[in-house]
Amino acid sequence: EKGVVVAIDGPSGAGKSTITKLLAARLGYINIDTGAMFRSVALMAKRRHIDPDDDVSLAELCRALDISFLRNGEGYRVIVDGEDVSRAIRTEEISLLTSRISARKPVRAALLELQRRMGAQGGVILEGRDIGTVVFPDAEVKFFLSASAEERGRRRYLELVARGENVTLEETVAKVVRRDKQDAEREHAPLRCADDALSIDSTALSIEEVLQIMEATVRERV
Ligand code: C5P
Repeated sequence: EKGVVVAIDGPSGAGKSTITKLLAARLGYINIDTGAMFRSVALMAKRRHIDPDDDVSLAELCRALDISFLRNGEGYRVIVDGEDVSRAIRTEEISLLTSRISARKPVRAALLELQRRMGAQGGVILEGRDIGTVVFPDAEVKFFLSASAEERGRRRYLELVARGENVTLEETVAKVVRRDKQDAEREHAPLRCADDALSIDSTALSIEEVLQIMEATVRERV
């Protein structure tokens, strides 16, 4: 029993990361945070002063980077070329830069390959924006997790404040909306609900309620 491929897509702040981690633990699956991979590319592009529109340099950067996950229990660290970038990739600045850089074709092509390799064994849950539509269109189970913009902004705000960032609720909601618009309107692999995905609106649901729906759905189809 190797297990299947589960895709969880949706806009930022819908609860994908939290849910994916917990669902993976319940199913005994491995979780793959594809957003962290795009964030890693953005962080390194920034450090190397690469223009976000310079496809040639971005392609070269992606070829050279070694991105991996170091697992410890339910959590994981993101390692790029031997450096733990787990914290550095989570700032608001990197979030917005990631949304720009992830729209570039060579970046998507490079990470697509890597994601397919990481998921090839099955028994994995991949969370992102285009897993069910582009990366694993044949995934056995697909979810599209969303919530109202206000609720997603509020969750993101609480997360940032807990981390000690100095932000306001209004600006956080505005940035979440802007990033989703950018992700949904891009040309390559835009954020979209796959036709065969189960769409879940988590606005009024608890984490446990979402988990129960997902776990039951996966177990039904395995
Ligand atoms: O999920 P997370 O907020 O970490 O993703 C950061 C950004 O990475 C998203 O706003 C999106 O631009 C990009 N992304 C993507 N495709 C994925 C995962 C993330 O384009 N599969």
